Amino acid sequence: MGWPYIGETLKLYTENPNSFFSNREKRYGEIFKTHILGCPCVMISSPKLAKIVLVSQSHMFKPTYPPSKEKMIGPEAVFFHQGPYHSHLKKLIQSSFLPSAIKGSVSQIEDIVLRLLLTWEHSNTINTLREMKKYAFEVAMLSVFGNKLESEIEGIRDLYQCLEKGYNSMPLDLPGTPFNKAMKARKGLNQKLRRMIEKRKEKSGGEGLLEALLSNEEEGKIKLNESQIADNIIGVIFAAHDTTASVLTWLLKYLHDNPHLLHDVKREQEEIRRKRLEANRRITWDDTRQMPLSTRVIQETLRAASILSFTYREAVEDVEMEGYLIPKGWKVLPLFRSIHYSAEFFPHPHKFDPSRFEVAPRPNTYMPFGNGAHSCPGSELAKLEMLVFLHHLTITFQWEVIGEDGVQYGPFPVPRDGLPIKVYPAKC
Ligand code: HEM
Ligand SMILES: *[C@@H]1O[C@H](CO)[C@@H](O)[C@H](O)[C@H]1NC(C)=O
Repeated sequence: MGWPYIGETLKLYTENPNSFFSNREKRYGEIFKTHILGCPCVMISSPKLAKIVLVSQSHMFKPTYPPSKEKMIGPEAVFFHQGPYHSHLKKLIQSSFLPSAIKGSVSQIEDIVLRLLLTWEHSNTINTLREMKKYAFEVAMLSVFGNKLESEIEGIRDLYQCLEKGYNSMPLDLPGTPFNKAMKARKGLNQKLRRMIEKRKEKSGGEGLLEALLSNEEEGKIKLNESQIADNIIGVIFAAHDTTASVLTWLLKYLHDNPHLLHDVKREQEEIRRKRLEANRRITWDDTRQMPLSTRVIQETLRAASILSFTYREAVEDVEMEGYLIPKGWKVLPLFRSIHYSAEFFPHPHKFDPSRFEVAPRPNTYMPFGNGAHSCPGSELAKLEMLVFLHHLTITFQWEVIGEDGVQYGPFPVPRDGLPIKVYPAKC
């Protein structure tokens, strides 16, 4: 278990997190214990055990986050809860992100893509991660607030950036620290959101998740108060954009490194463009359902990148599981990445091979969006966003990666320096 308290924390931070886990898994098997930041924890890398923790016995394992992060996002956000409040909120959020609910926003997402790509035409080098963050942030704002721009939106953008800088910094609440500035920005966000909520209560016809959370207030049953609404709006924007941006960055990297695949993806997208031009129309939801290769490339990107390498839970009681006892209060970490890189479930796991998804993966082995009670409600939106982007990117540009290979953690793994690229007009 390493040294008490410091335990293996130092090693986790100094070693590449992926080799940290895989080295230990090789030594100890699919379940082993260690110490991280003073907490004893159990690492799990078998689909069967992960399913018990996340799905079948999920009530015995509550989500757990550092208090500083909880304070920053807002304690009423969906991630931090279990039981009736969680499932009520989760249903509301999910219903805003079902295919039927997001179908109507394809053109608006397309507008965001086109506006972004236009700015690439005259850029010398492009920092992929930074651009993808802009894109995913705009899509998140669209899905949370709808398409009608309100005067508060600009302020929300700036405050949000400040919040994010503090989120990944040390939780040191002294004047001038990023953490302190972020907490101030968080308060500012609350005020702006309050004002928006008040305005919307007076005027009907608003859109997005905010409207879904508000209209629920009128229905009765479980009423959400203003902090519950605000924390979840902030939380969803948070969950939606850095994740999607990191995966999109990997998508460009993998396609660049696999020119034959890029060639075939481009062909698939050119065919869609041909149909579009023939009918003189823009991209539709149905087009995005006719992109089998691009869809598999995205599935493989989600596996290979495994940007959420693992998640945290805490045993709420002593739990016995497959002959092991997990004491109350211990952390449990299902290791998604280890499972995604197991040769048993994904042969030649280090090879980028979208064709592996021509057959469905075995149950509980593929969890880029988690599993069970807390699984990601935004998976369809994320995939839609990536397909619409891929369409316009491949028909408009080719790109060349500059700089070296490597991985950076911030906090998600992304290609080194955010993948700087140069773009050129696509050859037809
Ligand atoms: C490619 C992009 C994304 C990836 C890889 C991703 C991945 C995940 C994963 C693995 C979880 C489960 C975490 C856990 O079990 O502890 C999760 C939860 C969540 N995701 Fe995503 N996500 C993505 C995009 C989005 C988007 C676009 C939204 C916007 C709606 C979103 C909203 C959420 C929320 C609200 C939760 C918490 C659900 C709960 O606690 O019940 N995510 N995500
Ligand atoms: C909203 O409800 C939560 C949970 O009941 C409570 O902790 C919080 O103080 C309430 N906030 C407001 C502004 O009423």
